[in-house]
Amino acid sequence: MKQKTVVLGVTGSIAAYKACDIISRLKKQGVEVHVILTESGSRFITPLALETIAATPVVTDMFNRETPWEVEHIALAKKADAFLVAPASANFLGKAAHGIADDMLTTTILATHAPILVAPAMNSAMYLNPVVQENIQLLQKRGYRFISPGEGRLACGDTGVGRLAEVEDIVSAVLDALNPRQDLAGVRLLVSAGPTQEALDPVRYITNRSSGKMGYAIAQAAARRGAEVTLVSGPVSLPAPQRVKLVPVVSSDDMFRAVDGAFAGCDALIMAAAPADFTPQNLSGQKIKKQGNGLNLALKNTRDILLAMGQKKEGRILMGFAAESENLAQNAQSKLRRKNLDFIAANDILAQDAGFGVDTNRVTLYDDRGGARDSGSMTKDALADWLLDALWARIQRNRGRAGAE
Ligand code: CTP
Repeated sequence: MKQKTVVLGVTGSIAAYKACDIISRLKKQGVEVHVILTESGSRFITPLALETIAATPVVTDMFNRETPWEVEHIALAKKADAFLVAPASANFLGKAAHGIADDMLTTTILATHAPILVAPAMNSAMYLNPVVQENIQLLQKRGYRFISPGEGRLACGDTGVGRLAEVEDIVSAVLDALNPRQDLAGVRLLVSAGPTQEALDPVRYITNRSSGKMGYAIAQAAARRGAEVTLVSGPVSLPAPQRVKLVPVVSSDDMFRAVDGAFAGCDALIMAAAPADFTPQNLSGQKIKKQGNGLNLALKNTRDILLAMGQKKEGRILMGFAAESENLAQNAQSKLRRKNLDFIAANDILAQDAGFGVDTNRVTLYDDRGGARDSGSMTKDALADWLLDALWARIQRNRGRAGAE
């Protein structure tokens, strides 16, 4: 197999020293690494250190005269099978998001067709600043893959999110990008994500807390692994995943119809959405006026989408989620049976590293054969692949059984 090449951008962050470890691990996997070091990156680590490990010249200057026969940024952009920026500073994210190309790294990245992976590292207040978050969203929309930073004690003494992701996670994301698994090729996967909104009147609605991140991560990971993915999504503020058919919906009734309509054409359904369980009995055509005694709302149950699909599942594989605040195992297993599921991924919504809005999650995956596995705390992206691995194993088992019959 042809040797793969990674271009690694190193920007100004105290985590720049970790680039040495990243290079060394990639090289152990037989990957050639070329490093572009930014001006501020070079304040934290020397070109010599990186060059010694990479065994290729480190590029720092746009106007280097040593290789005048090649337009260097174009040559590197073409050479890359994957492009990694680790650590990525807030300054780099801002420039990349807005097409500013004022140094070797930002110029080369504009010219590459290779998959681009970015591992940010910075102080947590900077990372959580809306301008940085918006830049990240813009880049995600354009297909950049983010390896989310971890939480912990930061170099500045603060504690919070912003620490460069673990080197192993970065390296494995790069290896995945270099050799994309296509194990789910030919699998038609239906995923639901996000909350629903149940209107009371033209301006008000009731909803569930759900960012949609878990379902979007599953849809994205499955598409990358070759599945044909339909994503039925309630209202969320996330960029549409690439190569996924997105079906936006608002109410749980809309979601029911969209999932039901796509169900016949799918091999597996992962219901990661949090559809509202209750909806107003009556929808007021006019804005409801304030009254002296407040407002009594009459609510009715919505239809349980997963339950209905479980009743007509035939050969399909069904995975549900259970968000629980108590009796996790018992509640999850009874949902698994009641809804006729193959799997249920249960999380404790009161745990700090799981649930709403955060980038990490931790689930226990129960299956219909009595199995239970703990995922450990991981990023929602990594968890998406972990859940898909379980789904894939079940698909293979079912195929094996069908073949034997
Ligand atoms: N679900 C669904 N339709 C609904 C409500 C939930 O398909 N109207 C799905 C969710 O997407 C999830 C699973 O059912 O995959 C479990 O959701 P959860 O809210 O934990 O369970 P409920 O069945 O609603 O039970 P309860 O509210 O009593 O915990």
